[in-house]
Amino acid sequence: MKAVELKNGVYWVGAIDWAVRDFHGYATPRGTTYNNYLIMDDEITLVDTVKHDFSEVTIKNISSVVDPSKIKNIVVNHIENDHVTSLDDIMALTPNATIYITEKGKKGLARFFDISRWDIRVVKTGDTLTIGKRTLLFLETPMLHWPDSMMTYVREEKLLFSQDGFGQHIASSARFDDQLITCESMSELDDAVIDYYANILMPFGQIIKNKIGDIQKLGLEIEMIAPDHGIIWRSHPQKVLNEYLALANGRAHLSVAVIYDTMWHSTEAMTLPILQGIQDEGVDCKVIKLRATPMSVAIKELWKSRGCLIGTPTLNNIMYPTVAEFLTHVRGLRPKNRIVGAFGSYGWGGGAVRDAYEEFKKMGLETVEPGLQILYKPSREDETTCYEFGKEFARRVKEYHTKFESV
Ligand code: FEO
Repeated sequence: MKAVELKNGVYWVGAIDWAVRDFHGYATPRGTTYNNYLIMDDEITLVDTVKHDFSEVTIKNISSVVDPSKIKNIVVNHIENDHVTSLDDIMALTPNATIYITEKGKKGLARFFDISRWDIRVVKTGDTLTIGKRTLLFLETPMLHWPDSMMTYVREEKLLFSQDGFGQHIASSARFDDQLITCESMSELDDAVIDYYANILMPFGQIIKNKIGDIQKLGLEIEMIAPDHGIIWRSHPQKVLNEYLALANGRAHLSVAVIYDTMWHSTEAMTLPILQGIQDEGVDCKVIKLRATPMSVAIKELWKSRGCLIGTPTLNNIMYPTVAEFLTHVRGLRPKNRIVGAFGSYGWGGGAVRDAYEEFKKMGLETVEPGLQILYKPSREDETTCYEFGKEFARRVKEYHTKFESV
């Protein structure tokens, strides 16, 4: 690889991680990229660094444009490990460079490195840095998705460096959205945006709406959005802004995700008549077995659908462990505007369905009650009960979904 020019004198100098499949517990079947950018101006400026394993790659890419010792400024938009752990290697090549970072970013950076060696300037929203023909404008974006996060805007280029925001975990030889020309690759990109939002940004919907509102109020024209992961939005930056607004407003399909696990296939056997009942009400349905699916994929499917049914056998009077783990993970993501219910098989006293509803209550989600418990294995009669349960759940999902039809 070598540097790729985004705009006249502005280069992508990042790294492609084709092999990563587990990103701190988040499945990345498509791999990812760590994007960082070099601006050639009177003061040569690097925007972000990359994960430490790829230090050599970014240094080579920078060197394909300029000697790294000539870098004068380094903007650190976000201090998570995948973006900052090569900073030490870059600073070794240009020790007199000045680092621009938020207050919280500086505090965090001190936990990674001995920062007493470095010239660090703290910036806040509205601060600017003139580097020659261009001026950088800093915009703090706390909790998008860490307290330290910020974005950097270059007015002369109408270019937003958005760190994790608007990113996607895709390793690709394409750097820009308009280079993905097949329907398959475009729908992969759309799916990767939702995947990223669901697993990383779901808790921060209101903050996202406010921040996009701030950008609009400042009248920042945006021709290109360059995130720190995945594809750069060159042909349709507005598309991803609109997509984020829709997701933050709780957009979902009129569909149901049935997410379950099973011990002896009894809870699994319940999913079939439930699925039939949902479909016979004219609602789409997807069935996901937790032990056969990465957690992050199950979360994405939950987020895509207006309704979710959780299937859990009872084990020792409580929820099945994989389901409990999943619901704990979901609770941390604070989903909104979804309607949920639970079902499962039991052998002795039951308890798992009750536990699932307790989790739903903690999350503040709309529920369809009561859930459905079946003793041991579903009989023919039980299958009819499951079918009716699926139909009733689908009816409630349709009713609930009408509240969001304008979203
Ligand atoms: Fe890509 Fe928050 O790190």
